[in-house]
Amino acid sequence: MSAHADPLLLGPGPSTPYPEAMEALARPVLGHLDPDYLALMAEVSDRLRAVFGTANELTLAVSGTGSAGMEACLASLLQPGEKAIVGVNGYFGERLCEVATRGGAEVVRVEAPWGRALDPADLLDAQREHSDARLLAVVAAETSVGVRNDVAPLSALADTDTLLLVDAVTALGGTELRVDDWKVDACYSASQKCLGAPPGLAPVTLSPRAVEVMRARTTPVRSFYLDLGLLHEYYLAPSHRYHHTASSTLAYSLHAGLGRLLDEGLEATWDRHLAIGTKLQDALGKRGFGLVADAANRLPQLTATLLPDGLEEAPLRVELLKRYGIEVGGGLGQFAGKAWRIGLMGHNARDRSVATLLAAMDDLIT
Ligand SMILES: Cc1ncc(COP(=O)(O)O)c(C=O)c1O
Repeated sequence: MSAHADPLLLGPGPSTPYPEAMEALARPVLGHLDPDYLALMAEVSDRLRAVFGTANELTLAVSGTGSAGMEACLASLLQPGEKAIVGVNGYFGERLCEVATRGGAEVVRVEAPWGRALDPADLLDAQREHSDARLLAVVAAETSVGVRNDVAPLSALADTDTLLLVDAVTALGGTELRVDDWKVDACYSASQKCLGAPPGLAPVTLSPRAVEVMRARTTPVRSFYLDLGLLHEYYLAPSHRYHHTASSTLAYSLHAGLGRLLDEGLEATWDRHLAIGTKLQDALGKRGFGLVADAANRLPQLTATLLPDGLEEAPLRVELLKRYGIEVGGGLGQFAGKAWRIGLMGHNARDRSVATLLAAMDDLIT
């Protein structure tokens, strides 16, 4: 058992949930077809529409973590043999390629070095070259390197037959994301990051044109569990056809996290993440830590930072957790052993997190 009953989760996720989201976990468990549960899920969908910035009817919380959202979108929209263009500048772009390939798609990679942003012009060029591509996928906030990829210019895909799929696992609720304004056709996220709830639910939204593509499939969605058509029938269609035994406990918690976010206001939340992320990044710079992403494309909610020469990342990270109950993440890929990933998301995007982390670091380092 850990000595820390109350860990401060400053890694890439999960983040410490909002107190309201933790309190909600103690509500009574509801049956998965109880009208109260279905009404709760309808409200969760309403709140998600507000946070995604969309009027999409097919907006719901899939049971599972962010990866379930990714798999639900790819499995529901792609048929074997179809082409998917994927932007890759970090670990989660790679995962998109892996999941699409496992589903039988032909993947066209558009790359940027890890730590640099993807160039939207490269992605649009790739679509012109592969105009038969069913979808183009990009990670809005690449958690592995702390880089923001520009999604707005990709709205040009609306004039083509290629759908725009956006991974917003770390982006949603932390930085600007506008599903309808940016003509995003499919978008997924996760409950445990900037939405301020525990892991276990993956918000997903599909545009009417994505729903049309899904309905026009000539092969069944390979995954029964993650078939967004079936999930739509369960949660949103009047039939509320049984699909699986969904967790009302997690739904109550996400509902509370979203409520907190919407009470504060979406733009105010983005501003809060920006202010606190910048504060941490400035303080790290003063201590000789480097930043993986350049300023123009740096995320505030997830900072990938390079440790100064002479500091070993793993022992220091372990000590932070052991002595202070503070979790930060290690680097991935080429940054393994050299970098930390520090999340300031949702409830933890506040001064107290930065002050506590810096004090503990100073204590350990000096
Ligand atoms: C950008 C991104 N996509 C996908 C995932 C996968 O989400 P999960 O670990 O919740 O399954 C993550 C997790 O950190 C992520 O950061």
